[in-house]
Amino acid sequence: MQTIHEIGELRGVLDTAASGSSVGLVPTMGNLHAGHIRLMASSVARCDLTVATIFVNPLQFGPQEDLDSYPRTLANDSAQLEAASVDLLFAPSETELYPDGRSAQTAVSVPGISTELCGASRPGHFDGVTTVVLKLFNIVRPDVAYFGLKDYQQLTIIRNMTRQLNVPVEIVGVDTVRADDGLALSSRNQYLDDAQRAAAPELFATLQATAAALQSGEKDLSRLEHVAVQRLEAAGFEPDFISIRDALTLAEPQSQVRSLIVLGAARLGQARLIDNVYVESARST
Ligand code: PAJ
Repeated sequence: MQTIHEIGELRGVLDTAASGSSVGLVPTMGNLHAGHIRLMASSVARCDLTVATIFVNPLQFGPQEDLDSYPRTLANDSAQLEAASVDLLFAPSETELYPDGRSAQTAVSVPGISTELCGASRPGHFDGVTTVVLKLFNIVRPDVAYFGLKDYQQLTIIRNMTRQLNVPVEIVGVDTVRADDGLALSSRNQYLDDAQRAAAPELFATLQATAAALQSGEKDLSRLEHVAVQRLEAAGFEPDFISIRDALTLAEPQSQVRSLIVLGAARLGQARLIDNVYVESARST
């Protein structure tokens, strides 16, 4: 695996290596775990050339968030990418990606859903995500790009951006990798102490219980959301939201909607955990 830090060098290598080959892109912020590696494996299985990126993107962190303390583990990440047969690692510096500075950077913003759900408590977060992801698309020009279903709102926003701006890339969503007890793997799980780690699977369990109630015909969505919030509070979480949405658009579900997604975000100590459960054909009218 070749590690590249500069856009010009990456372009040069891709111009030579990628001609006639399919290119898969997997953007990350590093501190890789088995969830990230599943994305890499999906790309390696399908594409001739896989490019992983590691960049802790300052534009997507709020002023009170964990930009400075976000774990940076490049040597360990490189070893994992090598073992996963990734071809190229692009790990730019902040000045390489934002040479004019953060505030002068042109931004791309997907209206509507970017300010709801996680966007409501993290103002500007999704604009930071879409801005860096569009830049990475323009730098790497991949045929396919891989994102985790764990960050379901992020994936939906990136799909909208790509469609609305006619970016010639296929977006693939990859299943969430979980610990044995159900907790979705996340770089932020390491902020949990032992007691919090023991309580953390309750988020997924609560979302699953909500999904099961929907599947068995429960129609009162606000009641289900309320019950789920109470269950999380009882387990020691500070819930941000539990929300049942249209799985395709993330809009509030209309009665004819068939696929729903139950999304949850909750703080547990220092960690803000998110997860979701998909419910197919929940509502037949
Ligand atoms: P990061 O949190 O590093 O995640 C990189 C990718 O890995 C995302 O697509 C995320 O959804 C996926 N991922 C994380 N945990 C996962 C799990 N347990 N199972 C499967 N996939 C998982 O998401 C970001 O970085 C950034 O916002 C980024 C898209 C790189 C833009 O900066």
